[in-house]
Amino acid sequence: MSPPASSQPHLAPGYRLDQRYELLAPVAQGGMAVVWVARVVGKLGLEKLYAVKTILPHLSGDPAFRTMFLDEAKIASRIRHPNVVALEDLGEENGQLYMALEWVHGDALNRLSADVKSRGASIPPNILLRILADACAGLHAAHELRDDTGSLLNVVHRDISPQNLLITTSGVTKVIDFGIATAVDRMAEKTKKGLLKGKLQYAAPEQVRMQKVDRRADVWALGVILYEYLSGRLPFDAERDLDIVEMLATETPPPALPPHIPPNLANVALTALRPRRDERFPSALDMQRALEACLTAPTTTTDVATFLQENMASRLETRRREIADAVRAADERAGSAYRPRLASIPELLPIGDSASLPESTDLPSTVTAPTRVTQLTRDHWVAMVVAIIVTASVWAAILFVLSGGMSRPR
Ligand SMILES: Nc1ncnc2c1ncn2[C@@H]1O[C@H](COP(=O)(O)OP(=O)(O)O)[C@@H](O)[C@H]1O
Ligand SMILES: [Mg+2]
Repeated sequence: MSPPASSQPHLAPGYRLDQRYELLAPVAQGGMAVVWVARVVGKLGLEKLYAVKTILPHLSGDPAFRTMFLDEAKIASRIRHPNVVALEDLGEENGQLYMALEWVHGDALNRLSADVKSRGASIPPNILLRILADACAGLHAAHELRDDTGSLLNVVHRDISPQNLLITTSGVTKVIDFGIATAVDRMAEKTKKGLLKGKLQYAAPEQVRMQKVDRRADVWALGVILYEYLSGRLPFDAERDLDIVEMLATETPPPALPPHIPPNLANVALTALRPRRDERFPSALDMQRALEACLTAPTTTTDVATFLQENMASRLETRRREIADAVRAADERAGSAYRPRLASIPELLPIGDSASLPESTDLPSTVTAPTRVTQLTRDHWVAMVVAIIVTASVWAAILFVLSGGMSRPR
């Protein structure tokens, strides 16, 4: 992982955004942001990883975007659900907008699918159903978000695609990317100046028509993903964006699904893909129930985790090692003041259980050694000073007795 060429060269490994988020390594760059793995080390040595998204300058510098982004991100930060990546913090440093998200060790659904495909296979329907049902649960929680008076906030993700569904190594699916896309899409809706580029294949007809969208646009996108991974092809695709727009605007039905797809499953995909939104599932929760009703065997997140290990273990291991290396490099940059190497203080090891202090590679969250080592160093010095004082006192007493004895009056 090398830092992306950026017009903000100070955003490099080692830089601390707002003196808090220490950038470790870039993990992805899109058209709107660079995603970094970053860490915060607490006063007592607790180290926590974050995904820090630094918004690219062409957006950060746009006042209309800034307003929209801050509104959207504040709303997104209220979504607390196991199937949505938590937005932990929002910041701005010298005009550089950024968001700090819960760090997820895993990878996106499109990557999983690519790895499975490279083995000449496809994602088994039950695994796909578990992943998409979990995504529905996360989206439903977002759609149901209410303000303090209990009114619906009408949150819509607007950019659901396989890239924006992360699957953790524990097999939990998490929706990512709330906020930025929503802000850009809402600006487009407001200004009627065009849609997000490159996401047309997942856009609902009402998005293409620049109409006001609601939660059923996300239901549509999930229908596209279900269709895509059941059949191996997108329901609406063409070389030119304009042709996709036309298909959606003219309500062209998608090609029939392959005959081996069970009718109940095909029916879920086609219901989510009804051009008229009142014919779709009215909510992501309804879609989740319909997906779960198609399971032919109980399928849990553990089954998804096993499937991930079977199909992308090497990719996940490479990522884990890259991050462990980035953490180690950060430790080395910080020097011994931050994290003294145990090897350099061997005389302290027999005291207590410091020999079993955790290694820094236990990601994503590790308790590090500095507090304990600092404590041992201080104790060591205290013991030395006490020993010197005691020794000096004993000698002083001996000398006193000797000299007192000599000077005692007869
Ligand atoms: N919370 C996270 N934890 C770990 N990796 C993440 C996280 N968020 C994003 N990523 C990584 O960054 C990539 C792009 O993230 P995303 O939020 O979708 O940005 P973009 O705005 O470029 O689409 C993801 O595919 C994933 O690899
Ligand atoms: Mg994304």
